[in-house]
Amino acid sequence: MIVIHSIKELREHLSRQRQDGLRIGFVPTMGNLHSGHIQLIHEAHKVSDTVVCSIFVNPMQFGPNEDLESYPRTLETDTEKLTAAGCHILFAPNACEMYPNGTGVQTQVDVPDLGDELCGASRPGHFTGVTTVVTKLFNIVQPDTALFGQKDFQQLAIIRKMAADLCMPIDIIGVPTVRADSGLALSSRNGYLSETERAAAPALYKTLVEIRQAIESGNKDFDTLCHQGKQTLSKAGFKPDYLNVRRQSDLKPAQTGDDSLVILAAAYMGSARLIDNIAFALN
Ligand code: PAJ
Repeated sequence: MIVIHSIKELREHLSRQRQDGLRIGFVPTMGNLHSGHIQLIHEAHKVSDTVVCSIFVNPMQFGPNEDLESYPRTLETDTEKLTAAGCHILFAPNACEMYPNGTGVQTQVDVPDLGDELCGASRPGHFTGVTTVVTKLFNIVQPDTALFGQKDFQQLAIIRKMAADLCMPIDIIGVPTVRADSGLALSSRNGYLSETERAAAPALYKTLVEIRQAIESGNKDFDTLCHQGKQTLSKAGFKPDYLNVRRQSDLKPAQTGDDSLVILAAAYMGSARLIDNIAFALN
């Protein structure tokens, strides 16, 4: 695997690959890689010849009181994991390379509406930071395909909309969430959990499963189900942020007749803000 830090060098390298007719698959990450990220690399291999992964802890998507400083940076072990997964190129720029003029006067890419809901409501500006950096990365890498995890369901929906609205010639692929045996979705932020918190954290997924089962058995009182779900989370030691049943298509509140649903939740366990979701269809 080649590790590249500069935009210019990456462009030169990839333009040669493109001239040779190779299809480029791209997996953007913030590093501290786990099996969820590595699954994206495996899926990228299936649809491309050259697999590029980026690691960049993007300051623009962190709020002033969030974990930008403490976000785990583990480039050495990440490099080993990517090499073992057969990734061809790791792009690991620093903040000056990505934002030579700082983030304050940066042109922004904003997906209104979808970006203002759920995590967007709790983390103002977060998705603008995501879509801006992903646009920059797309313009740098110019991939044929880009892969994102369904774990960040709203992020995936926003990136699909951005790519469609801005006519980006990139196939966006969503990859199912990789979980620990306990059901807990793998996340770099799980590293913030103490042993006790880690033992309690699977309640998040369990609660979502229970709500899905209730809906599948015919209960369409989404508000009550979510209210009860939040109480279950609180009893398990979480401080719930949101828990909602939405339509998959536009993430608007689900109505009784909707058949493609997603249950999304964000909740704090200690200092860690964990998110999870379950998407499913009713017959
Ligand atoms: P990060 O949190 O590092 O996630 C990188 C990619 O890995 C995202 O597409 C995310 O959905 C996916 N991912 C994380 N945990 C996963 C799991 N358990 N199973 C499957 N996929 C998983 O998301 C970001 O970084 C950033 O916002 C980024 C898109 C890189 C822009 O900065």
